[in-house]
Amino acid sequence: MQARGLVKRYGNRQALRGVDLGTDPGELVAITGPNGAGKTTLLSILAGVLEPDGGEVLAGEGEVGWVPQQAALYRRLTVAENLLLFARLEGHEDPRASTEEMLELSGLGERRGEIVARLSGGNQQRINIAIGLLSRPAVLLLDEPSVGLDPRQRARLWEFVSGLAARGTTVIFSTHDIQEAERYGGRLLVLADGEALFDGSPAALREDVRREAPVAADRDFETAFVAYLQHRGH
Ligand SMILES: Nc1ncnc2c1ncn2[C@@H]1O[C@H](COP(=O)(O)OP(=O)(O)OP(=O)(O)O)[C@@H](O)[C@H]1O
Ligand SMILES: [Mg+2]
Repeated sequence: MQARGLVKRYGNRQALRGVDLGTDPGELVAITGPNGAGKTTLLSILAGVLEPDGGEVLAGEGEVGWVPQQAALYRRLTVAENLLLFARLEGHEDPRASTEEMLELSGLGERRGEIVARLSGGNQQRINIAIGLLSRPAVLLLDEPSVGLDPRQRARLWEFVSGLAARGTTVIFSTHDIQEAERYGGRLLVLADGEALFDGSPAALREDVRREAPVAADRDFETAFVAYLQHRGH
């Protein structure tokens, strides 16, 4: 997918100021940056659920799958019932087969009969992602997928997501956690106040941070990154 010069304004607030993003198949891209940086705005535009005020997104019909931060699950239905319902809503020819496939892919086959409200946050997030995958998108967009998960659930979630990317799905996710972005993103896009400050590999970001925030270089990476943002005026 390709996005060029994306601009978004809310009243007189500039949420995006000309952001570009092009991805290759199977890439795992982390969008990171402080609260209000424009991460959700960017993902919503890439997903086609929000119109930009400027710029364009080039994506094929059905190319993109969108997993918003708030899971839209029916908490009183079972895992399998949720998947079946969404497969029907999306007009799948064989919704039962699609459900089986997603149960397999998400590793939730054994939990198929459980009521969603009783699942852990990590497993609920897996169903949320499985629903985003029902349309078999080439590009999957995840907004803050790991928020509220404990370290073990996080690790399992990233195992699942990395597996999707390894099998060729492009994954673009947002996180305000720089360490998570660095650990799981093959590529990082750093946003601050609607501007892309950096786009490249985690190693290249470390180099930039070391060069621009040398005083903080002996501290942990998160501290150094905050100093780097400050150095860039954010
Ligand atoms: N519907 C809206 N109406 C007005 N302003 C908005 C709206 N949505 C977002 N904004 C503003 O646009 C800017 C970018 O918001 P956005 O939600 O994209 O940031 P974010 O990086 O996802 O932040 P967070 O880390 O808190 O999720 C913020 O200043 C926000 O207040
Ligand atoms: Mg957000």
